[in-house]
Amino acid sequence: MVGKAPLTLGVFKETGQEYIFDGAESLITIARPGRGKTQAHVVRNLLQLEAPAIVLDVKPEIADLTSDWRSQNVGPVQVFMPGNAARSESFNPLDAVPNDPIAAYTAIGRLLPLLMVPTDSQSAKSFWEGRAAQLLQGALYDICLRGFDGRRDMSAVVDWFSASPEQLKLRIESEAFRRQKSNAHRQPARRCR
Ligand SMILES: Nc1ncnc2c1ncn2[C@@H]1O[C@H](COP(=O)(O)OP(=O)(O)OP(=O)(O)O)[C@@H](O)[C@H]1O
Ligand SMILES: [Mg+2]
Repeated sequence: MVGKAPLTLGVFKETGQEYIFDGAESLITIARPGRGKTQAHVVRNLLQLEAPAIVLDVKPEIADLTSDWRSQNVGPVQVFMPGNAARSESFNPLDAVPNDPIAAYTAIGRLLPLLMVPTDSQSAKSFWEGRAAQLLQGALYDICLRGFDGRRDMSAVVDWFSASPEQLKLRIESEAFRRQKSNAHRQPARRCR
């Protein structure tokens, strides 16, 4: 009996019978470049497999050939392509950080180990990576509570660390304005006799 999502690997030369792989094990295809591994095995199966699939598509050619059919017949196709922001799926991890200062601090503490890979605590490298994590925590906190250049996302975090001269000028000006405003609201100090 064949399961719900079998893979078809080709046709036996002698009998013309389909070679069906229905195992719950790993499968590897080895052949020289340009021999049809992608076309005959991966693309062909994705164009008939009515089951979810996670595909490593480095070139990327498989998404181009199969995403139309799969999105119409199987389900949504999501392409994660970090080098192509216009085409890639994305999400903003800072959306999960609340605006309340205390809740934001706690949420950032939870987010930080997901953004930085923890190192071996015995190594000297870990000391400096710990300091870098603290600096990143400060940057995330500042951006989540006050924004940077009107943004509250990871691109703002990158700019926070390496702002352009124009961004620095704007930041200094807005900080000076903010201080001026808060000083104006402050009550004059009483003199002690
Ligand atoms: N069995 C086949 N069915 C359809 N096309 C094939 C087949 N074998 C080779 N081709 C043709 O050869 C070209 C290269 O095939 P494919 O991209 O599948 O090779 P590959 O083995 O995946 O190569 P690479 O290792 O470079 O990724 C395809 O564009 C296709 O036109
Ligand atoms: Mg290939």
